[in-house]
Amino acid sequence: MQVVTTPKEMQALALTWRRDGLKIGLVPTMGWFHAGHLALMRKARTVTDRVVVSLFVNPIQFGPTEDLDNYPHDLERDRRLAEAEGVAVLYAPDVALMYPEGCTTRIHVDGLTAGLCGASRPGHFDGVTTVVAKLFNLTLPHSAVFGEKDFQQLAVIRQMVRDLNFPIEIIGHPIVREQSGLAMSSRNTYLKEDEMDAAHSLSKAITHAKKMVKQAERPSPEQIKEAVSGLIVSHPQCIIDYVEIVDRTSLQPCERISSESMLVLAVNINQRIRLLDNSALL
Ligand code: PAJ
Repeated sequence: MQVVTTPKEMQALALTWRRDGLKIGLVPTMGWFHAGHLALMRKARTVTDRVVVSLFVNPIQFGPTEDLDNYPHDLERDRRLAEAEGVAVLYAPDVALMYPEGCTTRIHVDGLTAGLCGASRPGHFDGVTTVVAKLFNLTLPHSAVFGEKDFQQLAVIRQMVRDLNFPIEIIGHPIVREQSGLAMSSRNTYLKEDEMDAAHSLSKAITHAKKMVKQAERPSPEQIKEAVSGLIVSHPQCIIDYVEIVDRTSLQPCERISSESMLVLAVNINQRIRLLDNSALL
């Protein structure tokens, strides 16, 4: 596996592969790999000939009070893990190379970015779409794999790809969970022992919601949201950012539960760790 650190070298390599008729797969990440990231790499390998994993903690998607400065980082650890998955290139550029002075263009997807994480993290999705578009141009992938854990992010990227005519297949990968049910996340590493019960309340509340919709008389979205919120706030360390039931494509609130309904959650643990989870309800 090669580690590439400059945009120029990355794009030149991708162009060579393209000329040789090879199919390229991209897995964009911010590093500190866990089994969720590794599953995306394996998926990319099954559908393409050369997998590029980008490792870039993208400053423009973090707000001024967020965890950019202490985002977990260990290039050597991640290099070993990616290599073991048969990744061809780990692309790990410096910030100054991705955003040289004078780089002022931003990509904004309207509509889908307004609610949920977009409401509590202003500018976050502009940062995500801008860096992902740059990564697409640098790695020239035929396919790119994203996790459903960041459900809104996946929807926003699909919209960008449609709107800007990127000739790229976007593949969504189901959430990879710990045995306990906790959705894997690089941010789980910040969790202290006495915060684990609070962290597990998200997946437990989802399990409860799924049981509720199996009842003979199907509850309303409001009833499910109330029950889910109640379970989560019974842990005093949890502050709910949102508990919503939305249509999986439009991300608009559902009036009744259907196979298109997604329960989406964002919870802050002790004001330090923002956890996401989601699930279909039927
Ligand atoms: P990061 O949080 O590192 O996640 C990289 C990819 O891994 C994303 O597509 C995310 O949805 C996926 N992922 C994370 N946890 C997962 C899990 N438990 N199961 C399945 N997939 C999971 O998301 C980002 O980085 C950034 O916003 C990025 C897209 C790289 C742009 O900077």
